[in-house]
Amino acid sequence: MSRRKKIYEGKAKILYEGPEPGTLVAHFKDDATAFNNKKHATLEGKGVLNNRISEFIMTHLNNIGVPTHFIRRLNMREQLVREVEIVPLEVVVRNVAAGSIAKRFGLEEGEPLPRSIVEFYYKNDALEDPMVSEEHITAFNWATTQDIDDMIALSLRVNDFMSGLFAGAGIRLIDFKLEFGRLYDQNDIPRLVLADEISPDSCRLWDMATNEKMDKDRFRRDLGNVTEAYAEVARRLGIMKESG
Ligand code: C5P
Repeated sequence: MSRRKKIYEGKAKILYEGPEPGTLVAHFKDDATAFNNKKHATLEGKGVLNNRISEFIMTHLNNIGVPTHFIRRLNMREQLVREVEIVPLEVVVRNVAAGSIAKRFGLEEGEPLPRSIVEFYYKNDALEDPMVSEEHITAFNWATTQDIDDMIALSLRVNDFMSGLFAGAGIRLIDFKLEFGRLYDQNDIPRLVLADEISPDSCRLWDMATNEKMDKDRFRRDLGNVTEAYAEVARRLGIMKESG
């Protein structure tokens, strides 16, 4: 651990200085937190699963032309990524009512939404990530109108792609959260790329046949078998055939 400089430690990941300038090593921990850190646990093996699932999805997204920060997986718990300037927003895409949208609008969990909905939240733990509008985003200079258009377009492409990917594995993609970052070219022109991770920690995934939850709601709602569910997601996607 002391071999590399720690840049940042988050709830589920540690970022270290990478081997080349402009790169970082993302280390996936087994820690799980929910309700803005009020609930904690260590779920053995979760980091390994999320590293692999995120690698799998990001690689596919890179291949279909959705730019991401992902470069390559280094080992069971670590991946090499590009260092980006993080946009301080969480972008949530929803296909089916669940979680906070169900609560906010009094919808039944599991009710399909009239169309896919993209929402923005300001990334700020102390404020518990409040939902924000385009007005807030541009007024406070978190992103430009062009950035917002680009984030919505990219998020909907990711949604189309991932909905199909998971449907092929017998899993319904209910909703998910994305984060974006900026990469600067030689002329200092910024380009938005997907950052962070895409895993059962950041998606709602329901078994198509039984509606059983296969995501972090198992932890949030004390449903048990959290890592087993994540392992089943990996198995159905055709990754992690070997154990561990
Ligand atoms: O809680 P809510 O219904 O708003 O969450 C929507 C989606 O975004 C869920 O898939 C949840 O796992 C994800 N999310 C996340 N990180 C947050 C908030 C939500 O990954 N800080």
